[in-house]
Amino acid sequence: MTDRLEKIFSVIPNCETFADIGCDHGYISYAMLKRKKCNHVIISDVSKECLKKAETLLGDYISSGQATAVVSDGFDNVGASNASLIAGMGGKEIIEILKRAQNLPDVLVLQPMKNTPEVRKTLVELGYKIVSDYIFKAEQKYYDLIYCERGKDTLTDLEIEFGRTNLNEKSQDFIDYVNKNVLKLKKYSSNPKMSLEDKDKLKNQIEKLEKCIR
Ligand SMILES: C[S@@+](CC[C@H](N)C(=O)[O-])C[C@H]1O[C@@H](n2cnc3c(N)ncnc32)[C@H](O)[C@@H]1O
Repeated sequence: MTDRLEKIFSVIPNCETFADIGCDHGYISYAMLKRKKCNHVIISDVSKECLKKAETLLGDYISSGQATAVVSDGFDNVGASNASLIAGMGGKEIIEILKRAQNLPDVLVLQPMKNTPEVRKTLVELGYKIVSDYIFKAEQKYYDLIYCERGKDTLTDLEIEFGRTNLNEKSQDFIDYVNKNVLKLKKYSSNPKMSLEDKDKLKNQIEKLEKCIR
């Protein structure tokens, strides 16, 4: 598995049934069974062609009844699970899937590719407590990773924007990510053609970012 997939795998809890929504290759579900973190997996994807890859990888487990493969838009045709993963999709797509689901599990692990603040808000609205929520670097890219369980939560505006664990723990990956963005914004703001109003907005954003890692 790639470093990104290993990192995601590491936060999925041991459970009875694990569902991988949008599994594509199926590497995580395969590892869940192979490394005995669960007894049963549901591999699902909206694309029959993508699901085929996972079905091939998990062929022996499907034969033995430990894996079930299902073509499904989000959770639509996915039975009950204790923990589910949605990784590698855009935040808006993840939100649509979560809002439409009839049978959400007690534990969700999400790795949105963008629009993570909206995902955080939706999780709290749907009755999840965000237990950990941080950025990590793998294969030269930064990814958000959220682990949440059913429960009550409230998030501050800063937690919605940056993720609670990032703000509390200030990992090196988070610091590097913020510094990279600060540099980018400073470069934009040095453009002589930029209006004073836009420069001011950028200055505020830079100050907010720098405050986060102080
Ligand atoms: C970029 S791949 C990510 C694969 C894997 N989860 C990962 O993180 O490496 C996105 C997968 O999500 C599937 N997908 C997109 N929208 C979906 C939906 N609404 N329901 C289920 N699967 C979906 C795609 O077909 C594709 O296989």
